[in-house]
Amino acid sequence: MSTADIPTRARIGVVGTGKIFPAYAEGLAWIGGLPIVRVADVVVDVARRQAETYGIPAYGTAEELYADPDVDVVVNITPPVVHAEVTRAALAAGKHVYSEKPLAATVAAARENLQQARDAGRLLGAAPDTFLGNSGQSARAAIDDGLIGTPFAATSFVRSSRVETWHPNPAFFYAPGGGPLLDWGPYHLSALVNLLGPVTEVVGATSIPTPRIPVTAPDRVVDAVDVTVPTHTTSLLRTASGALVTTVLSFDIWDTTLPHLEIYGTEGTLQLPDPNHHDLPVLIKQRGDEEWRELPPVLPATRDEGLRPFRGHGVLDLVQALEGAPHRTTGQFALHVLEVLEAMEAATFEKGVQTISETCERPAPVARG
Ligand SMILES: NC(=O)c1ccc[n+]([C@@H]2O[C@H](COP(=O)([O-])OP(=O)(O)OC[C@H]3O[C@@H](n4cnc5c(N)ncnc54)[C@H](O)[C@@H]3O)[C@@H](O)[C@H]2O)c1
Repeated sequence: MSTADIPTRARIGVVGTGKIFPAYAEGLAWIGGLPIVRVADVVVDVARRQAETYGIPAYGTAEELYADPDVDVVVNITPPVVHAEVTRAALAAGKHVYSEKPLAATVAAARENLQQARDAGRLLGAAPDTFLGNSGQSARAAIDDGLIGTPFAATSFVRSSRVETWHPNPAFFYAPGGGPLLDWGPYHLSALVNLLGPVTEVVGATSIPTPRIPVTAPDRVVDAVDVTVPTHTTSLLRTASGALVTTVLSFDIWDTTLPHLEIYGTEGTLQLPDPNHHDLPVLIKQRGDEEWRELPPVLPATRDEGLRPFRGHGVLDLVQALEGAPHRTTGQFALHVLEVLEAMEAATFEKGVQTISETCERPAPVARG
């Protein structure tokens, strides 16, 4: 479907035109019908270059974008510590907002954003949206169809993303708002909540095995960064459905043979790929099976090729919600995920069980086909 077929569709303005911006520009163009009408960046020249590259008609400062009556939905892809203030300003200007993950750097800030959106009658949605892709939805369909019986447990493992080997200044990955929990955790927790429903309780512990990380990236601008958030975390979560989830989310584990995500049911096991991607195969082994089998995909493939990121489903989800469809990547879903991650980060033996107060609906599955 081309933009011309749906002239009344919401028009997109993007704030933050950094590393992940091309995935949105290409993804939204590929999904179709979601024109980016303006981009903004604190470095206006960066916004100008991206506007020229992708044929976007207007660029400038964030304030100019908020004031533009042609922008209906603001897509906030600034760094995590800036999310809350950009979302606040965009909502105050009367826009609907879709934010990159995490919804905000703290639960308190995310809660304020959500309350502001409710008071203003605007939609607030947030990444990750990758659980709307083929892998997440095929696994969801298998669970909903009872292929693994009753899910009673899951495991979730994240190893080092080796950011110090390729990023010129990886400081923010090792500071509040980053770490394995807020950088990678949203993908895993969103996938788990999609499959098993909301989390009610968290216990765990964390450590910082290497307090200062040497930076080896060839174009490094610093030689080392200080670590100020837990980088090795281990948690046990209980879901409202009674499932027990074991997690090891760590930037200190150089490598592992453990799977990214597995769901254990009374009649079989599902093994999911890296939840940062859309189309990689999901494996199943049912009780009695000798071999793993690939689940048949329930959705057409996206353009998630290799390590090239693909983004756009969450923005489409918000736009479709404005048109009356169910909203899946809701702000409340993202707030729940953030509260669980914050509890995992705060976990200590002494603290014991932490109860999660912000719950959410398990998102509706995407229609198959
Ligand atoms: N890089 C990735 O592979 C990736 C993948 C998925 C999600 N994300 C998420 O996307 C977001 C952005 O990540 P990135 O890697 O593109 O970061 P980045 O640092 O490359 O880009 C962020 C951009 O935002 C701009 N910016 C900062 N403050 C601003 C403000 N107040 N107003 C306007 N612009 C502002 C910066 O100048 C920069 O150009 C983060 O939330 C991150 O978690 C990144």
